[in-house]
Amino acid sequence: MKTEQSSGQFIINVPGQSTETLQGGEEMYRLLIERSHDIIYSISAAGIFTYVSPVWTELLGHPVNEVIGKSFKGFVHIDDLPACLVWLQNVIESGKRAEGIEYRVRHKDGRWFLHTSSAVPFMDETNTFAGYYGIAADITERRRALEEKIAMEQMHLLAKHTEKARESERESISRDLHDDLGQSLTAIKIHLGFIKQSVSGTEIAAKVDKVTSMVSDTITSVRRITAKLRPEIFDDLGLEASIQFYTKEFAERNGVEITLTIHPHLAMPIDSSLIIFRIIQESLTNISRHAKATRVYIALNKTDDSIILRISDNGAGIKKAEIESKTSWGIISMKERAHSLGGSFEIYSENGQGTVIKVVIPDNSIVNI
Ligand SMILES: Nc1ncnc2c1ncn2[C@@H]1O[C@H](COP(=O)(O)OP(=O)(O)OP(=O)(O)O)[C@@H](O)[C@H]1O
Ligand SMILES: [Mg+2]
Repeated sequence: MKTEQSSGQFIINVPGQSTETLQGGEEMYRLLIERSHDIIYSISAAGIFTYVSPVWTELLGHPVNEVIGKSFKGFVHIDDLPACLVWLQNVIESGKRAEGIEYRVRHKDGRWFLHTSSAVPFMDETNTFAGYYGIAADITERRRALEEKIAMEQMHLLAKHTEKARESERESISRDLHDDLGQSLTAIKIHLGFIKQSVSGTEIAAKVDKVTSMVSDTITSVRRITAKLRPEIFDDLGLEASIQFYTKEFAERNGVEITLTIHPHLAMPIDSSLIIFRIIQESLTNISRHAKATRVYIALNKTDDSIILRISDNGAGIKKAEIESKTSWGIISMKERAHSLGGSFEIYSENGQGTVIKVVIPDNSIVNI
């Protein structure tokens, strides 16, 4: 096959074809080349464009006549040029079609687009190398989407890793608080008891009583903080008991009525259980801080292939802008936690009233017992 660019016309000669067939063939080739979404080009042995298909204008801005007659080097990013030259040299040496080169091409307006190309060398009548025919596809969007996907996957992995690190840190702080501070406070309380026995004055005894009561309150606070950091029962009794314990305490402290429904015989690996528990914790904290709700419903259900957590309140409701805000870290962290298990996270106001959180986690992290 031979192509010629003459007075704006693209002529293709196919050796061995009859004129009749050739006319039909020419039309087909012309249509294919002119309508192709990829750029069809030919460049001379000196690297000068001798033909580019019309889609160049659509993709890269320049009218075709501003490209033909120019060196391809003027359009390729300077950093990508050495690899392109090596690649073209390989095309000549192998004498075969070569593909896979990726390079940036400049748009008329100065933006850079990523293209990938394949090319074949062609010879003149004396069988001397005369140039290349090639096809170039714009892969800018495809690459961007791929990079976004990879970045997203990396972000989920990072979130998972951070969550694990955070949990182990919480566990160690909780243990230190319980073992060191908790035990010291208990020892102080015992000693205060001894002091009270050995003082006769009622005034001092009353003061000792007051300090003892303060120490008791502090012990209760330490227990609450340790339980929040890492409920002891979590490791002993698992998710269900922890949720029951936490929600009961939360309801009492905040004067909210909580209705809890948990699917029976539900078991998950500890990491997944902790994530569910943390999402419940975070959403209850939000309810106590922002919702002014009187009723909360928590349902943890199981279907054939997923676990569904639904937390709803009858409070003030949540605005779209708050849900979408890039600084709503509490909401973002819940979302990330759900994503780290390959799940989905939705938050919305139902009929403009109250707030609903729905988390769906696929069953590959669920174990049935
Ligand atoms: N259940 C809810 N009811 C009403 N408003 C809510 C509820 N949950 C969240 N919001 C609103 O959404 C906003 C973002 O919540 P988010 O948990 O991300 O942040 P925050 O609670 O303000 O701070 P933190 O980073 O400490 O969690 C809140 O400031 C609040 O206005
Ligand atoms: Mg919050």
